[in-house]
Amino acid sequence: PTYSRITGTGSYLPPRRLSNADLAAELAAKGVETSDEWIVERTGIRARHFAAPDVNCSDLAVPAAQAAIEAAGIAPQQIDLIIVATSTPDMVFPSAAAILQHKLGIAGCPAFDVQAVCSGFVYALTVADAMIRAGNATRALVVGSEVFSRILDFSDRTTCVLFGDGAGAVVLEASETPGILASDLHADGKHVGILCVPGHVSGGAVLGDPLLKMDGQAVFKLAVGVLEDAARATLAKAGKTQDQIDWLIPHQANIRIMQSTAKRLKLPLDKLVVTVDQHGNTSAASIPLALDHAVRQGQVKKGDLLMLEGVGGGFTWGAVLLNF
Ligand code: ACO
Repeated sequence: PTYSRITGTGSYLPPRRLSNADLAAELAAKGVETSDEWIVERTGIRARHFAAPDVNCSDLAVPAAQAAIEAAGIAPQQIDLIIVATSTPDMVFPSAAAILQHKLGIAGCPAFDVQAVCSGFVYALTVADAMIRAGNATRALVVGSEVFSRILDFSDRTTCVLFGDGAGAVVLEASETPGILASDLHADGKHVGILCVPGHVSGGAVLGDPLLKMDGQAVFKLAVGVLEDAARATLAKAGKTQDQIDWLIPHQANIRIMQSTAKRLKLPLDKLVVTVDQHGNTSAASIPLALDHAVRQGQVKKGDLLMLEGVGGGFTWGAVLLNF
């Protein structure tokens, strides 16, 4: 096969939804002060979903994957590669992908996780595309699934209001017609400290801090520039121009970052897919969640040129340009 192409999308949000007012009330009970006005003005977030305590990454991934497989019109047993992008897997090991495989009733195909935080989905999609074009897979299930509520410090109002839980998935199949046209991935480990969960498991205990730390302004400053660069690089590789883009589907972290990126690419804001208002930042899940919502609402149609792009801890960033 010359190309890989997305043939189905799916997503899942855990049922517990907290508006900003709901979250502010819960935080107030712990002596942490925030407000709907502050959160909406700085981030565009109005609500997020949180998984129940006994629900893990693979549990959110199952219904998202099943919906994508159904949309692709294939049987789960036809999947021959599973990649899960996550930074909040069920366990230290084995991978959420292996656990998901079993829950889908599949056995035998390779399954592994990709860990690139909020860039995880564009990383995973790029790996799946490369494996398909190399002849090592024909029908890949690529999932982003996160339970960031597990790693939030609910005494830190500068981070705990930003994130949510959820999962999104695509089926990526070998194709003779162009689907994924170009991708561009990067990392720069010198920025580890601006966005990290520094703790690790050792000797039966967590050593170090197990909760998310972020320097929001440092992340903001880096994000806008690298997202523009990655988007332009994929356009150049594919021989396309920005005016040909039908939809920009960025990682949903902050409406201001998303709108700045669209402006830098000279894209009208009505070409920007926005779900951050209802989902918050779901890390590696945000792009496939936004894609699936846009598909099911009839925004994204077959043949549209899509620019997916992510940025996150690592520091990592990247973009994927594709014909849907
Ligand atoms: N409620 C009320 N007040 C708050 C809150 C809150 N939730 N959080 C912070 N504040 C206060 C601060 O204490 C500060 O008060 P002060 O001026 O009295 O000190 C004031 O609001 C301003 O705080 P800033 O941090 O300067 O606010 P800023 O405008 O930079 O917005 C934000 C913060 C929203 C985090 C922004 O920097 C941002 O979005 N950064 C990007 C973060 C991001 O996208 N991260 C995800 C990357 S993807 C990944 O890999 C996970």
